[in-house]
Amino acid sequence: MSVLVRAGVGLLSAPARAVIPCLWRGKYFSSGKEPAENNPVTPMLRHLTYKIKSTGPITVAEYMREVLTNPAKGYYVYHDMLGEKGDFITSPEISQIFGELLGIWFISEWMATGKSAAFQLVELGPGRGTLAGDILRVFSQLGSVLKNCDISIHLVEVSQKLSEIQALTLTEEKIPLERNAGSPAYMTGVTKSGIPISWYRDLQDVPKEYSFYLAHEFFDVLPVHKFQKTPQGWREVFIDIDPQVSDKLRFVLAPCATPAEAFIQRDETRDHVEVCPDAGVIIQELSQRIALTGGAALIADYGHDGTKTDTFRGFCGHKLHDVLIAPGTADLTADVDFSYLRRMVQGKVASLGPIKQQTFLKNMGIDVRLKVLLDKSDEPSLRQQLLQGYDMLMNPRKMGERFNFFALLPHQRLHGGSRQMNAHESKPSPSPVAGFGELVWR
Ligand SMILES: C[S@@+](CC[C@H](N)C(=O)[O-])C[C@H]1O[C@@H](n2cnc3c(N)ncnc32)[C@H](O)[C@@H]1O
Repeated sequence: MSVLVRAGVGLLSAPARAVIPCLWRGKYFSSGKEPAENNPVTPMLRHLTYKIKSTGPITVAEYMREVLTNPAKGYYVYHDMLGEKGDFITSPEISQIFGELLGIWFISEWMATGKSAAFQLVELGPGRGTLAGDILRVFSQLGSVLKNCDISIHLVEVSQKLSEIQALTLTEEKIPLERNAGSPAYMTGVTKSGIPISWYRDLQDVPKEYSFYLAHEFFDVLPVHKFQKTPQGWREVFIDIDPQVSDKLRFVLAPCATPAEAFIQRDETRDHVEVCPDAGVIIQELSQRIALTGGAALIADYGHDGTKTDTFRGFCGHKLHDVLIAPGTADLTADVDFSYLRRMVQGKVASLGPIKQQTFLKNMGIDVRLKVLLDKSDEPSLRQQLLQGYDMLMNPRKMGERFNFFALLPHQRLHGGSRQMNAHESKPSPSPVAGFGELVWR
C-alpha cells in the first residue's frame, strides 16, 4: 500500500512515518446490514451472546466497553491497531510536525504560567508512543529553556500490547510489570533523554501534581449510550441477539425509559443522541486537578458541538466496518460531543475551543516548520512525504476540519494573575493561549 521512509531531516530528526493511509477514523459511518455469512464467530461474539442470553440485551456503552477494553479479549488490550498494517492511522503517525507543534504548545503554556520548577506531562491513550516521542524530542531540543525544570512523563494506558510498544519507543527497553502491589503505576522506567516515565491504568492513579494533560484520539473510544426519540419519549438503543439468525447481533430499542436517559438535555432538539458519561467523569477529574494545582489540558479529537446524531462506527484494515460484525476484530468509535465536555467542566476551569485542527496548527506555525524541514531535505521522496503529511493534517476535506482542539485552563490563565506579583506590580495581562490565537514568543 505505501512505503515507509525515514524522516531524519531538519533540526529535529524523527522516526519513520507511514506514508499516506487509506483511511483515518474521522469518517462518518452508520452501522450497516452485513449478511450473516460475513459474521465470523469471534471469541468476543461468543462472550457477548452468552452474556446477553444470561442477563438480557446490553447498552451500546456496555458493548463498546466489552469489545474494546475487556481485560481478556478486548480489541485494545492485545492489538497493535495503529499504522499501515493496522486498522487506522492517526495524526502523529502521519507527520512528525504534529507532535512537535504540540510540544511547543506545552512549553508555551509552561512559560506563560510562570515557568514552574517541575511539571508532569500526562498523556491519556498514548497509542504507540509516537506523539509523546515527538514532544520529548522538542523538550530535548529546547533543553536550554527547560533546563531548570524537573519533568516526568505519565501515561494512562489500558492496553498491555500498546504499553509494551510505548516502552520500546520511549525508553528503547522492554519494561517489566511493577511488582510492588502498593505502587499506583504498573510500569516505570526512564526515557531515552533521561526523564522518569510511569504507566497507569486510570487517570485517578496519576499523582495530583502540577501537570499538563494531553488526550489525542482518546475520548472517541470511550463508551457512548445511544438514544432514539420515539412518540413515547426517549428510548435507549440496546444490543440483542437476532432471533432469526444465530450468532448475529442486532440493535433494539428499550421498551421503556432507562436511567441513562438522565444524561439527555431537557431542550434537546435532535431525534438521536449519543452521550458519553465516562468522558464527563474524566473531564471533571481533569478540571478538578487543574483548578487545584494549575497546568492545562489539551484535547484533540474528531467531533461536533452538540449537533450530530448517529456517529457510532467501526474500522478494520483501513476500511469502514459494521459495528456488530465480528466484535473484537475492529475498532469502535463515536464522535466526541465537545458541548457535553464543556458542560462537564462545571465552571471549575476555563475552556477554549473546539477549534478546527487546520486553524490550530496554522496558529502554531505549521507552515514555518514545514518550510524548515523542506529546506533541510534534498531527498525527493522525503519532501513528498512531508507535503502529503501536511495536506492530510491541514486539508479541510481530510483531517483539517474534522479534527478539533479543545483546552482546559485555570481561570486565572485567561484573566491574568497566574504568576506571583509583588506589591508594586499591577495585574499582568495574560498572554494569548497559543494555537487558539497566533503563537507569540516572548
Ligand atoms: C485511537 S487510539 C489513539 C492513540 C494515540 N493517542 C494516537 O493518536 O496515535 C486510543 C488509545 O487509547 C487507549 N485506550 C482506550 N481506552 C482506554 C481507557 N479506557 N483508558 C486508557 N486508555 C485507553 C488505547 O489503548 C490507545 O492507546
